[in-house]
Amino acid sequence: MNYRHAFHAGNHCDVLKHAALCLILERLKAKDKPFAVLDTHAGRGLYELVSEAALKTAEHKGGVARVLADSAPPASLAPYIEAVARANPFGGLRWYPGSPMIVIEALRPGDSAKFCELNPEERAALETAVGSDGQVKIFDRDGYQAVRAFLPPIERRGLVLIDPPFEKPGEYLRLAEALAEGLKRWATGIFMIWRPVKDAPGWLGFLRAAEGISDTLNVELNIRGPVEGKLTGSGLYIVNPPFGLSASLTAALPWLAERLAIGPGAGWLLQERERAVVIREASGKA
Ligand SMILES: C[S@@+](CC[C@H](N)C(=O)[O-])C[C@H]1O[C@@H](n2cnc3c(N)ncnc32)[C@H](O)[C@@H]1O
Repeated sequence: MNYRHAFHAGNHCDVLKHAALCLILERLKAKDKPFAVLDTHAGRGLYELVSEAALKTAEHKGGVARVLADSAPPASLAPYIEAVARANPFGGLRWYPGSPMIVIEALRPGDSAKFCELNPEERAALETAVGSDGQVKIFDRDGYQAVRAFLPPIERRGLVLIDPPFEKPGEYLRLAEALAEGLKRWATGIFMIWRPVKDAPGWLGFLRAAEGISDTLNVELNIRGPVEGKLTGSGLYIVNPPFGLSASLTAALPWLAERLAIGPGAGWLLQERERAVVIREASGKA
């Protein structure tokens, strides 16, 4: 397990994933009922953008830094921009909040969150960053196994975020199995899967396996056309998306594609499916 998210924190992939995560949490908070979050691949929770690892790649400069540098971002990015600002109480952009930090900031009394992280160093850093209490639990546990062990949550509403590092072959197969298991246990839960735009056959295999799922949102953001060996785009596959998420993402994606573009072929895609039938599709080039 070599993957360290510190090299990538705040890049274009994080912008897409965390902007959507913030929007989902906003929708969950809109109701007065408790919700639960299971973050299967949590990472260290908080990233210092001036650390050696972050400075080596400086990927945040092409991601979150570009978003913050604009004076008129779309309103649907406000929850994301606020989450980043909360991690930097003295202003600037020294810290970048990972998914656990974003989730914890959204919890109200009665809500709960579970985080799984297998890398001991990352888990220790996560424990330091967010701590554990009755409401927040951190596990040294395989995230895919957690989908079987922890669902459904007693709150019966909430989100499962599955954000694997894609460093081993067969990740799409594990994702498809985990999603099927998760939905068997919790048919009404929101599931959000992050993926890199690469390995087209693996992705198509996943889509075939997920064909029977009834309510999904498939989103892609590409900062340029494909380049061998480079990660130029990422996607989100969301099951049971909350009401309004599709519209909010549609409002943000063209702006993000333009703002984060680094070359020809930049663009975005959003595909809404109900009972395996595409009911709305929108896309654009930057
Ligand atoms: C992409 S990073 C997570 C980033 C985080 N979700 C965020 O948005 O801030 C993936 C993390 O999963 C951890 N990991 C890898 N395989 C795992 C597994 N099977 N179960 C749980 N964690 C795993 C890695 O150590 C890494 O920290």
